[in-house]
Amino acid sequence: MAFGRRGEVLLAFAVALCLSATKLEAYELHMGYYGKTCPQAEFIVLDEVKKAVAGDAGLAADLVRMHFHDCFVRGCDGSILIDSTPNNMAEKDAPPNNPSLEGFEIIDNAKKRLEAECKGMVSCADIVAFAARDAVVLTGGLFYEVPAGRRDGRVSIANEALTNLPPPSFDLNQLTQSFAQKGLSQDEMIILSGAHTIGQSHCSSFSSRLYNFNSAFSQDPSLDPAYAAQLKQECPNTSSGANQEVPMDPKSPSTFDTSYYSNLLVNRGLFTSDQTLMSTPATAAKVWQNAADWLGFQKKFGQAMRKMGKIGVLTGSEGEIRCNCRVVNGFN
Ligand code: HEM
Ligand SMILES: *[C@@H]1O[C@H](CO)[C@@H](O)[C@H](O)[C@H]1NC(C)=O
Repeated sequence: MAFGRRGEVLLAFAVALCLSATKLEAYELHMGYYGKTCPQAEFIVLDEVKKAVAGDAGLAADLVRMHFHDCFVRGCDGSILIDSTPNNMAEKDAPPNNPSLEGFEIIDNAKKRLEAECKGMVSCADIVAFAARDAVVLTGGLFYEVPAGRRDGRVSIANEALTNLPPPSFDLNQLTQSFAQKGLSQDEMIILSGAHTIGQSHCSSFSSRLYNFNSAFSQDPSLDPAYAAQLKQECPNTSSGANQEVPMDPKSPSTFDTSYYSNLLVNRGLFTSDQTLMSTPATAAKVWQNAADWLGFQKKFGQAMRKMGKIGVLTGSEGEIRCNCRVVNGFN
């Protein structure tokens, strides 16, 4: 390499500029975050998600939902993973998560391998973000990049899951507000709801639409009657019926496609919070658009997941890298 003295000076200057540029960005999530400290990180997570989903396809849905439930409560800080203790009921034991949210062992298995490979480097919050993306890809969705550098929080409070996660009874305004509080637009809310194209729901999450809707109608008139009849078969109006599970998208329950939206077009959204997307011309137009445009939906979904994945993140020297995703450091 033939650098003259002048070349060296210029090079040193350029390096200094780069350093100051990275310094400015040091506290933002970025791509290749583990490039030096744990280059295999994303491969290891993918490998564990693959194994789990091969054994039980339904776990892919849990992983996508886990990232959402992590990010909406105290930001994407792995607080969803912390176990309850005698003195504290954690998020994972709040009704929106317990018993419906599973798959925590997948994160544990990935974390164990990551600790063996690159001790103390990869946060539990990043594992959840990678795993959600991998679950989308393994069920047929489009790959999207996940910037990393999240650090793990030290607090998880059950009641905060109740107050931050939107319930399935929410209408369009309530959903829009709930997402706006997290910095997400109505359009992003509509896109992220498309995750309901995979997975299962307990009957209790929508049975009021079948059996006690309101004083005028026992059955929600916005629900397709044939679909309602089928759901009543699967979800008898009893306490054991309430615990049954049904696919959220019966057409293709484990494929990350656009049929969530085509179901809404024929009044086959499972929750009030799903069907309500058809309640205004503007949001219905988005539903039509997503139903008809596989690639457009997939691209927007990846972008919206990346944005959701930045909610309230801890970076730099905030938080910690938990050794065990279930326990804050110093308590195990
Ligand atoms: C828009 C507001 C949302 C509401 C009201 C909502 C509500 C729910 C409810 C009640 C269930 C069923 C739980 C059960 O009874 O077993 C569910 C399942 C699910 N949700 Fe959402 N959700 C919303 C948004 C999202 C978002 C943004 C994502 C991810 C990006 C997501 C991903 C999922 C997945 C994948 C499942 C299936 C879980 C499984 O099969 O275990 N949801 N959601
Ligand atoms: C469903 O069960 C509830 C409580 O047991 C009861 O009040 C309601 O009338 C039932 N609804 C129908 C439509 O059977």
